[in-house]
Amino acid sequence: ADNWILTVTARTPTNIAVIKYWGKRDEKLILPVNDSISVTLDPDHLCTTTTVAVSPSFDKDRIWLNGEEISLSSGRFQSCLREIRARAGDVEDETKGIKISKKDWEKLHVHIASYNNFPTAAGLASSAAGLACLVYSLAKLMNVNEDNSRLSSIARQGSGSACRSLYGGFVKWIMGKEEKGGDSIAVQIADEKHWDDLVIIIAVVSSRQKETSSTSGMRDTVETSLLLQHRAKEVVPRRIIKMEEAIKNRDFESFAQLTCADSNQFHAVCLDTYPPIFYMNDTSHRIISIVEKWNRSKGIPQVAYTFDAGPNAVLIARNREVAADLLQRLLFYFPPNSDTNLNSYLLGDKSILKD
Ligand code: PMV
Repeated sequence: ADNWILTVTARTPTNIAVIKYWGKRDEKLILPVNDSISVTLDPDHLCTTTTVAVSPSFDKDRIWLNGEEISLSSGRFQSCLREIRARAGDVEDETKGIKISKKDWEKLHVHIASYNNFPTAAGLASSAAGLACLVYSLAKLMNVNEDNSRLSSIARQGSGSACRSLYGGFVKWIMGKEEKGGDSIAVQIADEKHWDDLVIIIAVVSSRQKETSSTSGMRDTVETSLLLQHRAKEVVPRRIIKMEEAIKNRDFESFAQLTCADSNQFHAVCLDTYPPIFYMNDTSHRIISIVEKWNRSKGIPQVAYTFDAGPNAVLIARNREVAADLLQRLLFYFPPNSDTNLNSYLLGDKSILKD
């Protein structure tokens, strides 16, 4: 019978880079110009949930994002599908009387339904969670027998930062040396329990979609920014070593100093691009000033900030007390219903403060 359907559902959190990836040395394979390090968020909050289904009655591959069908024709989706299909194994479900052999996957089509529980493409790394979840759920559906590092190298071809979402905790994406990118993979530096004092708060400055996609922004930067070359060669390699140390030793002072400096350099590189790219806005700059002033007044850093390809602030507090203090300060400086519409999401905790 042709009316069976087999499904798998997976949930993947997004990740936030503390040492940024910006710039590709190979656009097609998505190979970066430097290593990067990120922290994977708590799966209860910013995450993608994806259900993948296969049935002989499907006549083509299709994908829905947040309930709306989108095109699957882009290279990034096609690369992931092709790589996963090439590694598909035999699947058997006795209760349903389903038997799929390796070569059947060439002919079978899949339907993919993906939901983000946070704004898509607003610089909150939605593609990271999305592509990682897509690769992971397809790999489960097709019984792909590869470890997370190998899967990370497939997710990387969907969206660079996605490779880091295959692991929890702190993750390093090694840029690799091989031309084909086989060694450009993610590895876990420390698991999610290693440093659980940290609390991450995302101040959603704007949930509008960003104006410059990371793909075109990176291309312009690689072509025009001298600062990027200096960063990739001289700055990041040293920071990666120091950041790994800081994470291993739970040294918040170094962690915060490196995180803030790297975010600032990433945005400086954007400004050094022609045409210049502006991801932060006045509210982002105000948040930086507030945190910098607070940290200086305490003598030791209380909070680290980092911004991706958008104006939203990712704030990392050294512990829960500091996080509570930070939220109060944010509410004081950006009161609800004022001109600056700031929604703060409290992470690392079950409660979400919004509006
Ligand atoms: O993976 P992409 O194409 O969404 O690029 C992500 C780039 C940054 O978020 C700005 C930095 C990073 O390392 O995640």
